[in-house]
Amino acid sequence: MVDQRERWTSRLGFILAAAGSAIGLGNLWKFPFITWDNEGGAFVYVYLVAIAIVGMPIMIAEVLIGRRTQKSPVGALRESFGPRWSWVGGLGVMTGFVLLSYYLIIAGWTLRYFVRCMDWSLNGFDASADLGAGFGAFVARGGIQILLAVIFMTATVWVVYRGIGRGIERVARVLMPTLLGILLLLLVSALSMEGAGEALSFIFEPDFSRLEPAGWLEALGHSFFTLSLGMGAMITYGSYLKRRESVVSAGAVVVVLDTVIAFIATVIMFSVIFSVPGMTEQVGKSTVGMLFITLPQLFYTVVPFGQVLAPLFYVLVAFAALTSTISLLEVVSSYLMDEKKMPRRQAVMICGGVILVVSALCGLSFGAWAPISTFVVIPGKPGLFSLLDHLVSNWFLPVGGFFITFGTGWLMSREETFAELIDERTPGWFHYGIWRVFIRYVAPLAVAGIIVAVIAGKDFS
Ligand code: TRP
Repeated sequence: MVDQRERWTSRLGFILAAAGSAIGLGNLWKFPFITWDNEGGAFVYVYLVAIAIVGMPIMIAEVLIGRRTQKSPVGALRESFGPRWSWVGGLGVMTGFVLLSYYLIIAGWTLRYFVRCMDWSLNGFDASADLGAGFGAFVARGGIQILLAVIFMTATVWVVYRGIGRGIERVARVLMPTLLGILLLLLVSALSMEGAGEALSFIFEPDFSRLEPAGWLEALGHSFFTLSLGMGAMITYGSYLKRRESVVSAGAVVVVLDTVIAFIATVIMFSVIFSVPGMTEQVGKSTVGMLFITLPQLFYTVVPFGQVLAPLFYVLVAFAALTSTISLLEVVSSYLMDEKKMPRRQAVMICGGVILVVSALCGLSFGAWAPISTFVVIPGKPGLFSLLDHLVSNWFLPVGGFFITFGTGWLMSREETFAELIDERTPGWFHYGIWRVFIRYVAPLAVAGIIVAVIAGKDFS
């Protein structure tokens, strides 16, 4: 049989696309916020430990499964672990579907704030305007929420429709370097600010007395989200790798890039926030507040070159979100392509369309449409958007991740995984035996810890 599977054109193509998947709102929005919420220092180190003991081994496992089977999650897990395991892949596909439908809404907000910032930069910023109230009014306007979701989905579909090499890889090759460039520009500006010193010590000087035990769980939970693990996204991207590429080094580079970007974003945000007296109290308890209320205001009042950097900042967030929505749509569509033998274009259009409908409902769940904004399944989380985020972050990703690590550690033989990981390209720092201990014992136990904590009432969303 002729092998007609699409492929990345090079190792770099895979790395940029996979890093694009991993680097997203989780890095630029969620990580700074949970670092803030957990009082910095100690939490950051705990997070690094979580990435090392859970994120890295599972990243390697997912890429391994993908490259080995050359299939998307359902087929890949069936082939690797046995016929009864396709449901774990199915759970991953469903997770991609659900995650994309609400992720798209926040992605859309970045477009709106880009346009607003262009307006502010060109026509002047009104420092007395109440951005908080403005934000509340904006999210409650159903029409614009749906419009933004449609625009973002159209861009996503357009890329995935064109395929792996000519669509996803090509876009990643442009967007990822651009993203890094903008981020470095912002970093330079932020480090020149008065609050930079305080921000750096807040982030990097550990004070373990201020870390609650729950911080450990939060770090573990976030490591799944930020690395796009637990739902087969990396299995899918790995399945387009040529057999001769090293799983270990490709996976490790992605993990390191994701972590570095999350740290840079955090340094930028805190340098800005610490530069304004009293701001630290105002940032308060709202995740979106930091990104869409506090920051725009600060860009125009205190940040050097803020007029230029503010719109660029939202371009950065939009690009980061786009390379993630691309990968989410690829996971869902690849199911139809691989399992149902549907042509790529048809699969992408169908998935994009159906997800957009659910997404529109999410967009209406901030007050635009009362029934979908106020119903409560989980106490304290009214509305469709919060419910879906709750299900994905607390249940779907950890459960999927647990079965992937358990299966790789216990259902694949030592010979099989060894042969996949060790070849002449494997980097010298990698020790197969250590990875195997992590994937068999450490990672499953840590992930089981998350699941137990969720059952006991902890909340990661
Ligand atoms: N990693 C993405 C972020 O940090 C979010 C995400 C989670 C994701 N799982 C994914 C993206 C799967 C693409 C595919 O924002």
